[in-house]
Amino acid sequence: MRVVSSPYGGIEVLACADPALIARLEMDTSLDVFRQPALQHQALIGIAQDSDTCVCIAKLGHRIVGYATFHPPDDIERWSDSKVPGLLELGAVETSKTHRGRHLARTLLEVGFGTGRYNDKIVIATIYQWHFDLDSTGLTSHAYRKLLERLYSSVGFAVYKTDDPEIAYYPGNSLMARVGERALPDLQKEFDRLRFLESGWRL
Ligand SMILES: CC(C)(COP(=O)(O)OP(=O)(O)OC[C@H]1O[C@@H](n2cnc3c(N)ncnc32)[C@H](O)[C@@H]1OP(=O)(O)O)[C@@H](O)C(=O)NCCC(=O)NCCS
Repeated sequence: MRVVSSPYGGIEVLACADPALIARLEMDTSLDVFRQPALQHQALIGIAQDSDTCVCIAKLGHRIVGYATFHPPDDIERWSDSKVPGLLELGAVETSKTHRGRHLARTLLEVGFGTGRYNDKIVIATIYQWHFDLDSTGLTSHAYRKLLERLYSSVGFAVYKTDDPEIAYYPGNSLMARVGERALPDLQKEFDRLRFLESGWRL
């Protein structure tokens, strides 16, 4: 556990929180970028119950003020077609509007990867411009993508090319991945194959 200081007290940042703990907590009402807070709360409890997942939370007292989810890629995405186990996805990362800029998001990612459970895995992060919170931040789409790329690169992610139309056709979107230091070559080759599913990967 890490503690991030704030004018409201210490914010505890926990890796892979127990679903029962998440259920006992309440959601900060400003955690509404992806879904209404109550629905996102239920979604976090559900994700934390699955195998192969991890929900990191930032809590201030009994309130969740930030979270980051790690899970297998969604069935509708090409990344779920991996024939080699070990390809996972960093899903949503969100922090309360009251606590942004305190390095909460970075700490959530650091505690998640600090568990060591992703050192032999490849974790992808798909950055989609339609999820950007431009209204609250006042940033341009380009600046927001750069912010996220910097945030994710702080824990070892790099930008990768892909022919996935959802990413390749939108300049605001981007694919990032963190190749664990012990990820096997077969997994890396499979990741390369999936990146260029349409055009074919050639070395
Ligand atoms: C993106 C988001 C998670 C960042 O959360 P945060 O707790 O404010 O992030 P951090 O404080 O850890 O900051 C990470 C970096 O982004 C920078 N940053 C954060 N907000 C910024 C802003 N409004 N303008 C410029 N830079 C900003 C920080 O300075 C920091 O960079 P540094 O390490 O070089 O100092 C938060 O804004 C959010 O919840 N947005 C809505 C959901 C979203 O877009 N999620 C990401 C895609 S799933």
